[in-house]
Amino acid sequence: MNTDFHKSTVYQIYPRSFQDTSGNGTGDLKGITRKLDYLKGIGVDYLWITPFFVSPQVDNGYDVADYYRIDPLFGTMEDLEELIAEADRYEIGLMLDMVFNHTSDEHEWFQKALAGEKKYMDFYYFRRGKGPGVPPNNWDNRVAPGSAWEYVPHLDLWYLHLYDRKQPDLNWENPLVREELKKVVRFWVEKGVKGFRFDVVNLVSKPEGLPDDNAEEGMNGKQLYTDGPKIHEFLHELTADTGIASLVTVGEMASTGLSHCIRYSKPENEELSMTFSFHHLKTDYKDGKKWEVMPNDFMALKKLLFTWQQEMKRGGGWNALFWCNHDQPRIVSRYGDDGKYWKESAKMLGLAIHMLRGTPYIYQGEEIGMTNVKNYDCIQDFNDTETQDNYKALLKQGKSPEEALRIICARSRDNGRTPMQWTADPKANGGFTDGTPWLKCNSNVADINVESQINDPDSIYSFYKKLVSLRKEQEVIAEGDVIPCLENHPQIFAYQRVLKNAEGEQKILVICNFTGKEAVIGKEELNFAGEEAVIGKEELNFADIEDSRLLISNYKDTSVQIRNGRLRPFEAAAYQI
Ligand code: NOJ
Repeated sequence: MNTDFHKSTVYQIYPRSFQDTSGNGTGDLKGITRKLDYLKGIGVDYLWITPFFVSPQVDNGYDVADYYRIDPLFGTMEDLEELIAEADRYEIGLMLDMVFNHTSDEHEWFQKALAGEKKYMDFYYFRRGKGPGVPPNNWDNRVAPGSAWEYVPHLDLWYLHLYDRKQPDLNWENPLVREELKKVVRFWVEKGVKGFRFDVVNLVSKPEGLPDDNAEEGMNGKQLYTDGPKIHEFLHELTADTGIASLVTVGEMASTGLSHCIRYSKPENEELSMTFSFHHLKTDYKDGKKWEVMPNDFMALKKLLFTWQQEMKRGGGWNALFWCNHDQPRIVSRYGDDGKYWKESAKMLGLAIHMLRGTPYIYQGEEIGMTNVKNYDCIQDFNDTETQDNYKALLKQGKSPEEALRIICARSRDNGRTPMQWTADPKANGGFTDGTPWLKCNSNVADINVESQINDPDSIYSFYKKLVSLRKEQEVIAEGDVIPCLENHPQIFAYQRVLKNAEGEQKILVICNFTGKEAVIGKEELNFAGEEAVIGKEELNFADIEDSRLLISNYKDTSVQIRNGRLRPFEAAAYQI
C-alpha cells in the first residue's frame, strides 16, 4: 500500500455549498475548479468531493441513481474532466465518494428488481415478512425512528434500507453486485482520480439469514451488521481487484470498533489507507443519543482520542483525523466557543487534531472558523431529511416546538452544509451564488469569510495553512509516536510526538486548553523551576521551553505564559523540543 499520505492533508468539499457558477443557487464542479487556487493556497494535497452523481437528491447525492454520470445539478462530465486535469496541474488529487452500501430506489437495478426481475432482486435484500404487516426482522432504521424494512405490496415482499426508504441496501453477498461495484471504481480510476472515500462501508456485510437482534433495546441490528462477518474479505477483494492499493482510500466506519479499524487500515492487509471513526464526536451525546444535547464530556473525549491514537499505532493502523464534515455540526460551536473566544478556540481545535498521528481532513469553511447556523428560526429553514424526521420525532416525544428547534439547531447536519462564506457581503450570499442559495446562508457572513482572512497573518485561515505546512516540514508529525501528557488534567489536552531514527530524536510538545477558563498546571504535574518534571508518562523538563522553538500558537507571548504554568482561555501551542 502507498503511505505517502502520511504527510498529506485532505480538504473535503460539499459541492452544493461550495461555489455556484451557474446562478442556480447550488454549487457546482466548475465552482471547485474556480477555487483551485484558493485550495492550493492552503496547501492541501487531496480533495474529497461528496457525491455528484445522478441522483434524486433525497439524501443530497448519497442516493445514487447512476454511478457513471454527473448529476446536471453539478455540471457535466466535461466539467469533471476539466477539474481533474486542472487539479493535476496544482498537484492536487481528487478523491471521489463511493456510496456502495445502498443505491437510490431510482437506480436501474432497483427499478428492475421492483419489476420482479430475479437477477436484480438478488442485488438487494428482498424478504418475506414474518406475518401480515410484520417486517422480516427487528432491525431499526439508522436515521429515522422505525423499521429498516419497507413493504412492496405488488411483490408482497419487504426490502432492507438501513438509511432512507429511498436508499435500498445492496446485497454484497451476491458476487455480481461486487463485480458491478468494482467496474464503477475502475471507471473513475481511468478518469484520473487519485483516491476514494467509501460511504458507511463497514455496514455492507450483513449476517447470514438476517436474524433478529436480541441484544440491546434501541440498537436493533447494529451489532450484527457493523464490521460484519465478511467485511475484511469484501474490502480486500475490492481493493485488490481494482488495483487501488496504490491510491488513497478512506472508509467511513459507522459505530465501528478499534480492532477492526486497525485491520481495515493496516497496509499489509490491502483493504484501505485509513478509517474515519466517530466516537470522539459523540462525547456531547446524552446517553449516546444524537438528538439529546449535553455539554461536551472533555475527559471522555480526551480518553477516546488517546486510546485511538495509541492503539492504532500499536496495531499498525492509520487514522483519518477530523472534527468536521457534512454530517456534523461545526466544531467551533460544539467543542469550542463561537462567541467571545471564537478565534482562539477555532485555532486551538485545529492544532489539537492536526498534530496527531493520522491524515487530517479539513472540511470546507472550517479553515475560516465557520459556525453553526445563527439565523434558522423554524423547521422550514432546514433542508436535511434526517433533521426533518427527527424534528417530528422530538415533537412526538412531547417536546415543545421551541425545545425541538433548540435541539435541531445544535445537532442538524445543515449546520455543516450552509454555503461557503467567501466574501463579507450578505446580500451577495457571501460570494457563494448570484441566485437564491439552496440553503440559507449563515447570518454571520459579514464577520466570518475568506476575504477578510486570507491576507491576515493572524487569521484562522493563516493558522490552518501553517498547520498543513508543519506536517510536511516535520517528519515527527507524520510519523512520530504519540505520548499523552497531563492525562488527568480537567482542562488541558496535551501530548508529545516523538520520533527516533538514524538522524536522532525529534520531539514536539502540543498543549491545548479546551476551556474558556484559565488553566493552571499544578507544580506537581509540571515543574518550571528547571528541575526534573514529570508530565504524563514521559519525563519532560519544561525549562526546555526556554530553548525550544515555538512552532505555532494562538496567543502572543505564549511561551512566557506557559512557563508560568498558565494557559489562557483556549490557549494552545506546539513546541519543538
Ligand atoms: C454517510 C454520509 O456521510 C451521509 O451524509 C449519508 O446520509 C449516509 N452515509 C448514507 O449514505
